[in-house]
Amino acid sequence: MNVFKGEITSLPPDKSISHRAALIGALAEGTTEIANFSGGYDNQSTLSVLRDAGIAIRQEETAAAGGRVIRNVVIESRGLWSFTKPSVPLMCNNSGSTMRMLAGILAAQPFRSELVGDASLMKRPMKRVADPLRQMGAAISLSGEGTAPVVIDGSRDLKTIEYLLPVPSAQVKSLVAFAAMHADGRSKIIEPIRSRDHTELMLGLQTIDRPDGVREIIIDGRKPVAAKPFNVPSDPSAACFMIALGLLGRNSEVVLRNVCLNPTRVAYIDLLQEAGAGLVIENARSEGGEPVGDIVVRSCSGLKPLRISDHGVVAGVIDEIPMLSVLSAFASGEFELHNAAELRTKESDRIDALVVNLQRLGFDCEQYPDGFVVKGRTGVIPENAHIECFDDHRIAMSFAIAAEAAGASLELSDRDVAGVSFPGFFATIEALRQ
Ligand code: S3P
Repeated sequence: MNVFKGEITSLPPDKSISHRAALIGALAEGTTEIANFSGGYDNQSTLSVLRDAGIAIRQEETAAAGGRVIRNVVIESRGLWSFTKPSVPLMCNNSGSTMRMLAGILAAQPFRSELVGDASLMKRPMKRVADPLRQMGAAISLSGEGTAPVVIDGSRDLKTIEYLLPVPSAQVKSLVAFAAMHADGRSKIIEPIRSRDHTELMLGLQTIDRPDGVREIIIDGRKPVAAKPFNVPSDPSAACFMIALGLLGRNSEVVLRNVCLNPTRVAYIDLLQEAGAGLVIENARSEGGEPVGDIVVRSCSGLKPLRISDHGVVAGVIDEIPMLSVLSAFASGEFELHNAAELRTKESDRIDALVVNLQRLGFDCEQYPDGFVVKGRTGVIPENAHIECFDDHRIAMSFAIAAEAAGASLELSDRDVAGVSFPGFFATIEALRQ
């Protein structure tokens, strides 16, 4: 087992907040300055499609202490209808957030646009995008399988909507909110299961928490959005990998600085603390409307096996399940997940990807439609086991972390895919290895 020690000040800026800062900047009147924008491929895809749709964007890099690069983005826009008809299909690459959230904005622009992606994104469900936008009056066409290309004939006269979210999805919630910002009147989104709330916070939307636990989000359309600066904290969904490294490593201690601790993003930390992990939050504070803090991780032995089935918990750890399941399997030999069919619609079918790869590493697993179980180890990790990454950054990184900590050599089918959300992922591990 390897030992990892050190402090990480250069975790990637949050992917969700970076996407939204760029999209909101494009909808705002004036100059939006975004400090610490993510250099991940997904966030760069958002900038490039916004440029293709007529938005003026500058990106500058400055060197900071410890060889760190801070990327700042400046967006100039004239408000809700500043987009122009793209002359090319808008290439979102691997980024579902880019495709879905941008669709909400393009639905309100009076021209045709087409959204496409890489092989993984072209397989992901887009009916959840088309349904509310059609209700609002945009014409949307999808492939026969309900996937991209998403062809949008936008309408300048979108209708308001009262929309009950059929899946707990922050992307769907956000795209409806972005479309509703263009409609003439008040719209309401009804959210039975809580998902990340960055869009609401960044736009200052009114939310009502009903006694039955359901949240309502109110959007008053056609209100000008004043440009304001954003400062993006570190991504908790990237931190989850380095947390796992510190927990699984021998005699390890890793400190992660300035991590976003928004309550809708910390279920991973809560679950691990309940399972007995050595995790401490220090310097909890608020920055730019988001709670942030430092996370101190010490290696732990005797982590209790994780069992997850509550719908709200599943929504809260949806991006962390790959790392969480691999961590639980390596630390305790067991893991169990239910009510998580949504995982099959991510960058890969993550239930299948996790089970196939865990089996290759000698775990006894079984999958079912909405989850999987790891029952124990049947053998040792084979030398140079091949891990299939399925175009999925989180699958690649989860297995890379477990192998690093165990001192095992794995062959990843694709190392570069980590850059989708975590440029410098392998260098960060190197810097911590003793
Ligand atoms: C995201 C929401 C989640 C998450 C994705 C980012 C966002 O997707 O999996 O990585 O930024 O809104 P869903 O909203 O589709 O669950």
